Amino acid sequence: MEISHAEGMYIYDVNGKSYLDLVAGVSACTLGHSHPKIVESVQQQIQKYAHVMVYGEYVQSPQYRLSKLLVDHLPESLDCTYIVNSGTEAIEGAMKLAKRLTGRKKIISFNNSYHGSTHGALSIMGKETYKTKSRPLLDDCHLIDYNSIEQLSAIDTTTAAVVVEPIQGATGFTVPSTDWLKRLREVCTENGVMLIFDEIQTGFGRTGKLFALETFSVTPDILCIAKGMGGGMPIGCFISSKAHMDKLKENPKLGHITTFGGHPVCCAASLATLTELTENESIISSISKKEQLFRTHLNHPKIKEIRGKGLMLGIELGDADLCQKVVEKGYEVGLITFFFLFTDTAVRISPPLIISEEEIIEACKNINTLLTELS
Ligand SMILES: Cc1ncc(COP(=O)(O)O)c(C=O)c1O
Repeated sequence: MEISHAEGMYIYDVNGKSYLDLVAGVSACTLGHSHPKIVESVQQQIQKYAHVMVYGEYVQSPQYRLSKLLVDHLPESLDCTYIVNSGTEAIEGAMKLAKRLTGRKKIISFNNSYHGSTHGALSIMGKETYKTKSRPLLDDCHLIDYNSIEQLSAIDTTTAAVVVEPIQGATGFTVPSTDWLKRLREVCTENGVMLIFDEIQTGFGRTGKLFALETFSVTPDILCIAKGMGGGMPIGCFISSKAHMDKLKENPKLGHITTFGGHPVCCAASLATLTELTENESIISSISKKEQLFRTHLNHPKIKEIRGKGLMLGIELGDADLCQKVVEKGYEVGLITFFFLFTDTAVRISPPLIISEEEIIEACKNINTLLTELS
């Protein structure tokens, strides 16, 4: 499939065929494709200036305005941003910050977690298959079971950080209990451990709140975001308190540097996305109804379970072959779904948040028909 262009909920190939996009570039295209406000902000910014200096030397209004709007919508303790280029870089920055703040090096993460593919993020990935060929990785990284209260006892006063996805993505969207996340917060606080939330996939409205931390009422010490933040442009960010972030500035001076992090054009796209999400409240407030529509209309007997929350849903078929065929055949009928990294029996549904109720009903009807034809 060679892309010609993409607009709203649809991607078009060079033969003029349209595809309803139920994936959003893996949760990245929050407002769909070529959203007029994002296009306009990118065009305006590129005409003014693109890259001018490394990081922080000059005031660049798209960076400043994006950071201000972000922290205005976050808990008070998350009041300082460091903008990077991707999700994995946000995780790298957060891990370095946690080590600086605690003077410790042990990092705990969870089996089946995915935090990115650079060496640091890979070191805390919860799947050995993807790590083996890249070893040696960081030492003192430990995995425990997600959503297990008992295993939280591994967190102690030698731990620098715990990195957690509020909803695990690569397993086909596993939602933990709120009690577990709250207990995780308590255990980290009791032991002086930095709690790092990886909201790279759950952020920017995907779960029905601007950030999943609101859904669970748990505030991390460091928040990582990316993907849907850019409205289709590459950007990421780690966020903590100003007092915490100041530690990266000295000893050594400029303790974390990125040439293109905070790129003004990407910041402009992200600012347009966040402005639309926060001003046009109906987008986020409609997510829970849209989730229910998917759950109601995806009613084929082959569907064993629908996991996830909001517009990050995993259709569990319990059958890798059927799953493969649904995704492949979907392209033939003009419907884009996708796979998950760590499971081959579930189909990914993570559309742009602007999907309409009619489009959801139509998409579900087509998936049910595919399941009947293919089983
Ligand atoms: C939860 C989570 N963390 C981190 C990442 C890495 O982000 P990036 O691909 O932008 O490096 C991803 C990407 O899929 C992700 O889903």
